[in-house]
Amino acid sequence: MTMDSGRRAFLRWATAIGGFLSLLFAGVPAARAFLSPAFRRTREEKWIRLGEVDQFDPEVPTKVDFVDTVKDAWVETRRLRSVWIYTEDGETFRVYNGRCTHLGCNYFLDEDKGVFQCPCHTGFFDLKTGAVLGGPPPRPLDTLDVKIEDGILYARYQDFHLGVSDKAAV
Ligand code: FES
Repeated sequence: MTMDSGRRAFLRWATAIGGFLSLLFAGVPAARAFLSPAFRRTREEKWIRLGEVDQFDPEVPTKVDFVDTVKDAWVETRRLRSVWIYTEDGETFRVYNGRCTHLGCNYFLDEDKGVFQCPCHTGFFDLKTGAVLGGPPPRPLDTLDVKIEDGILYARYQDFHLGVSDKAAV
């Protein structure tokens, strides 16, 4: 090996190592910045304005639909959600997530029978308590946290795992 070819080999190695280190130092923070939203899971509070408390008649369930915006990493999705509001006295309120606890279908008010009915697999729920009266749902309707501010009723919207007996937030 001549002195020249030895120097050239050394320079080639030095360049390769330098390039690798540059890539490492510049690439790792860039990759982390790019990927971190994918690993970031935030559960933000969503208080939904449902309306003035005196608009809800006692013992008459009221449905409120709204658009829920969900951010998953870089993807923002909008989905139609609903809640059912029930009050016996116009002062205290139960607000149910509008998804059936079996597989998530939207249930409806069956006025003739005085129950909530899920059309997908014929599940029935009690209006006052959300208890399962019949069919496959494994747990009562999911109640949401509520608050009243300046005469306005709000519910903290959350989805819960479906098809299981425990109520666990998604
Ligand atoms: S989804 Fe409601 S009973 Fe199956």
